[in-house]
Amino acid sequence: SKLWLIVPAAGIGQRMRAECPKQYLRINNRFILDITLSRLLDTGRFTGCMVPLNASDHWWPESDANNDNRIQTCSGGAERADSVLSALHALKEQVAADDWVLVHDAARPCVHPADLANLVSTLAEHPVGGLLAAPVADTLKRADSGGLPEVAETVDRNQLWRALTPQMFRYSMLVSALETALQESQPVTDESSAMEFSGNMPVLVEGRPDNIKITVPADLDLAGFILSRF
Ligand code: CTP
Ligand code: MG
Repeated sequence: SKLWLIVPAAGIGQRMRAECPKQYLRINNRFILDITLSRLLDTGRFTGCMVPLNASDHWWPESDANNDNRIQTCSGGAERADSVLSALHALKEQVAADDWVLVHDAARPCVHPADLANLVSTLAEHPVGGLLAAPVADTLKRADSGGLPEVAETVDRNQLWRALTPQMFRYSMLVSALETALQESQPVTDESSAMEFSGNMPVLVEGRPDNIKITVPADLDLAGFILSRF
């Protein structure tokens, strides 16, 4: 089946505390959003790409992506899941029910083409799909609810993974999973959460831990360094 790409870019980047949404900050003089999009689209794997944008976005016209005929845009929503659902609806006339949709955060420019290739080949015959993820490296503590939090317990990290993107699911399964989860006010911070709520358990495909989501100012230098290495 065909592969479609959705790159949610409708956030405002509150935690970055910058003058503009973080996807429009520059690394090596390019918008983060442009770096992310070209790293994925230049693999030549995608039939089409939809980018949900914030209603008050006035930076997009300055992007390289704006002049790229492989890319379509639509309006995003209040939360990331709303933006993704809006992009899925915008693709409706172009996709088949069992086509694959890969959702990848605009704020993850360090995604490696080899991880994309591995995700797609690992899941090709799977009925549900899955996501890139990285095993947790640190020892994890659960805190009690005191003013100065104390350790309540150490959590076994053996079976814990950090969820990354891309996340890859079948078009119609993902649409119904997201619609149901949002209707039922479930916390939906990624596509996998919605699929899990529908009872369809995604596969964890190990990806590089340096596929970071740029969130706070220090992540900009880190991403610049990671990108300089490949
Ligand atoms: N996103 C989106 N629509 C939203 C919220 C987020 O498309 N309503 C996108 C962001 O643009 C980003 C990705 O989802 O590419 C991951 O979200 P996050 O890292 O949380 O970005 P922001 O919400 O912009 O940042 P913050 O939470 O710090 O405000
Ligand atoms: Mg956010």
